[in-house]
Amino acid sequence: MKNIVILISGGGSNMQAIVKAAQRDAWQEKLGARVAAVISNKADAKGLIFAREQGIATQVLDHKAFASREAFDAAMAELIERFEQPGEPVLVVLAGFMRILTPAFVNCYAGRLVNIHPSLLPAFPGLHTHQRAIDAGCKFAGVTVHQVTAELDHGPILAQAVVPILKGDTPEVLAARVLTQEHLIYPRAIAGLLQKI
Ligand code: GAR
Repeated sequence: MKNIVILISGGGSNMQAIVKAAQRDAWQEKLGARVAAVISNKADAKGLIFAREQGIATQVLDHKAFASREAFDAAMAELIERFEQPGEPVLVVLAGFMRILTPAFVNCYAGRLVNIHPSLLPAFPGLHTHQRAIDAGCKFAGVTVHQVTAELDHGPILAQAVVPILKGDTPEVLAARVLTQEHLIYPRAIAGLLQKI
């Protein structure tokens, strides 16, 4: 069984979409994969409640308890290791996980670490993507699912979806339009990757 470990920091709506897709599309039977754990760097992340209700193992690893990024990432890797099965790769899914990961961590999961970013990468990596897209006068925005590499919000693109930016859009309105697409493409991209790893 391929274990999927999802890292979140907040609401976890993408995590929920992935969990629901795994149930609806019978990933366990068809892809030999299951969401084994949800890990948050914030104890009050709302997504943890949903994961617990689904009977998924949850863990909190508070980054503030660590002196360095390296120490936090090492502890995170140790936690993830608990969900590794002999001979089966674990897939690590970043779903609104708002921490920059060290190259050591990223390299450890090369090809098995994916992220979703709410812009059409390579445009607008980093924060405040929706505001920046509106300010730049873009006519379209969107979302990207990509393999994670050491460079923030870079790496091979697995999927993208495009939405229009409409007159009068606020960042919040645009974010909601993009999020609807995130929930569609992230589970699909993960299912595709599970067939390859
Ligand atoms: C999503 O829009 C995701 O693309 C974004 O955070 C939100 C999390 O929502 N991720 C990033 O900005 C990462 N750079 P969720 O917790 O409801 O899934």
